[in-house]
Amino acid sequence: MPPQLPGARGPLTEALFARWRYGAPLDTAPSRAVDALVDDDLHLALWCCYELSYQGFAGIGDQWEWEPETVAFRAELERAFEAALRAEHQPTGLPTDPEVALRVIATWAGPPLAHTLETEGTREMIQEFAVHRSAYQLKEADAHTWGIPRLRGPGRSAMVEIQADEYGGGRVGESHSELFADAMGELGLERSFGHYVDRLPGATLATDNLASMFGLNRRLRGALVGHLALFEMTSVGPMARYLTAARRQGDLPALERFYEVHVQADAHHASLALDGMVRPIVRDEPDLAPDVIFGAVALSHAEARFARHILRAWNEGRSSLRDPAPDEPTHGRRTDAAVLDLTSPSVRPAGPRVPIIRTEPPPRVTLHERALHTSRPTDVGSSRSNRNRRQS
Ligand SMILES: [Fe+2]
Ligand SMILES: [Fe+2]
Repeated sequence: MPPQLPGARGPLTEALFARWRYGAPLDTAPSRAVDALVDDDLHLALWCCYELSYQGFAGIGDQWEWEPETVAFRAELERAFEAALRAEHQPTGLPTDPEVALRVIATWAGPPLAHTLETEGTREMIQEFAVHRSAYQLKEADAHTWGIPRLRGPGRSAMVEIQADEYGGGRVGESHSELFADAMGELGLERSFGHYVDRLPGATLATDNLASMFGLNRRLRGALVGHLALFEMTSVGPMARYLTAARRQGDLPALERFYEVHVQADAHHASLALDGMVRPIVRDEPDLAPDVIFGAVALSHAEARFARHILRAWNEGRSSLRDPAPDEPTHGRRTDAAVLDLTSPSVRPAGPRVPIIRTEPPPRVTLHERALHTSRPTDVGSSRSNRNRRQS
């Protein structure tokens, strides 16, 4: 069952939804004044455009996916987002060899979200984190799959192997998105895709939009490769921390399984992505090298903004989720209160008082492992780029 269209958040989503619902003209473009890296309205509009290529929306015809005004509008949003990402990317500070550059980026430290959940995470914080991740992880791997028909040779075969694992090797119920849905249900959350999108801020949607933008544009296939490679290279450390957080809560076997699967699989995926995927792809298409690095840097920055957003809210003793506007339509969906009152101040996560600018402590791994497994993208970002990165 496709999700309902979320509520509009501003002029972009209002115009887009009016186009789809009533056929209204769609000649709106993002204002230069908005922060295209995190803007709520821009990223919800872009997320909705992309969703037409995934599961669609209830009551919105599939023909809108390739409708010319919708496609032109989506391109305007992508132009703004990509320009902002490239503006903060400083390739001169990195090695030009993508393999070396990715190893460097994988060591960048970032906001200590995984460490905070590991050491101080309450059940409510774990639930809230799962809600944030639901936009991506309930369709985990789908965006990277767009890369398969756009690549050739042994690098593509490595990507296929990674993706096959992400889909559970074709076993029913074993894809990582299905494991995550089981974990959400176990946490008392609604497990259907798109249920919580009204609650997700632009910083969260941007992490999902990043993968979709790279996946759905052939010209950005190099960035998609870099994005996937860094994703796999920086998974094991944070996933192990999330696993510790889940075990400490107890009685969360599905959530533990989701994290255990990643700790085990991504140790292999990390080397497979770098040696088996990036190396032959860049060897066959050297022109892709700069964008492989760009994709990894963009992931690192987007995930650091996401982590900072959550930690800032928790430090202030409030939810990091977006409050639905009073006049936003609910589309008759059952309220979150049926499963978890994420809007009630009484259950908002009591914020751990940790400094947002503090970075993850060194992981408990060897120096060799550190090069590959320092941290999930959620937690990466360089101290150099931290100084230059705009705050979310
Ligand atoms: Fe996965
Ligand atoms: Fe993986």
